Amino acid sequence: MSEFLIKPKVYFGTDALQSLNTLNARRVFVVTDQAMVKFGFAEQVLNLLEKKGIEYQVYADVASDPDISAIVNGMKVMDSHYPDAVVALGGGSVIDAAKAVMFSLWHTRKDPSRQKPCFVAIPTTSGTGSEVTSFSVIKAKSEKWVLVDEFMLPDIAILDPALVKSVPPSITADTGMDVLCHALEAYVSRQATDFTDGLAEKAVKLVFSHLYDCWRKGDNLLAREKMHNASCIAGMAFTNASLGITHSLAHALGGVFRVPHGRANTLLMTHVIAFNADFHGNCDNAIAKRYAALAKSLDLPCNTTREGVHSLIVAIDVLKEEMAMPASIADSGVSETDFNLRLTEMVNQALRDSCTPTNPRHVRAHDLETLYRQAFSGVSHA
Ligand SMILES: [Fe+2]
Repeated sequence: MSEFLIKPKVYFGTDALQSLNTLNARRVFVVTDQAMVKFGFAEQVLNLLEKKGIEYQVYADVASDPDISAIVNGMKVMDSHYPDAVVALGGGSVIDAAKAVMFSLWHTRKDPSRQKPCFVAIPTTSGTGSEVTSFSVIKAKSEKWVLVDEFMLPDIAILDPALVKSVPPSITADTGMDVLCHALEAYVSRQATDFTDGLAEKAVKLVFSHLYDCWRKGDNLLAREKMHNASCIAGMAFTNASLGITHSLAHALGGVFRVPHGRANTLLMTHVIAFNADFHGNCDNAIAKRYAALAKSLDLPCNTTREGVHSLIVAIDVLKEEMAMPASIADSGVSETDFNLRLTEMVNQALRDSCTPTNPRHVRAHDLETLYRQAFSGVSHA
């Protein structure tokens, strides 16, 4: 038996932010960050709440890669004035922090008089898909913990392309490649189903059609809307199918060397595809055939399974290069000495990451070490 969960209600497209007018709440806890305050997006949200006569309390101290102290501080603020709705406005870090704050407070402060608040997620980057997933990534020292619980699934997601048009090119590239990685990993996951396949395939197509346009010309609102939708669609796929070892390796790399999440995935993605597909061996396993099917759906050359896998790897490499992304971990500024010093620690973290069990090919520590070394030097599989 398999299952597929559909949630939340999604408002998308031009002026989607106005859907906040339908929010049925008296007291709202707004979780955001200083960038949203600076760019005036927080003010837009607060103005909409004020017009409806809704009280609000703002927690705007979430930094990139939120850690446990950010969660504890957020819990104190939320606990002091318990809301009937939580609005998370920001990138994946903000939405993940809001999830962890809600989840932790609910489970540590048992109070029968309290209802679970309505949870509204408004993403301001097109990447994590956190607005539709039950995942939250929290940093603990140099390790990233992946929390997974249906409690954290938002009730409402608002995808307004106006909120992403000023995202700078490098973040557009990093987050957009994260979308691609979510879709690819969900597509070959051990838990992939007909339902998640359709979502993953569509998200991959949207990324290859629109990510470069977003990177080249950030105010292209149509391209921005398509990538915002792609991020959400890929999120729907992976919250049901889960992910694989690209994410496991990227979580550890990001935790240890502070490589941005999407960029870490990008540095590892093609090496993981080659490994999963046994590209340098027979390249004829069921996983290779899945990658080849995806390549075919993208109209890439695919006369044989090997050619399909090769085409997919090349297409990813080309997209990376077009957006001037680093080709290797070494190019990202990590020294070889530091890399070798922390390699075993990263391998061990990746091995116990919650995304590893759903990778389509079984892995051992030695495999993960080889993948890290390939990504460090930027070995080409093309
Ligand atoms: Fe991701």
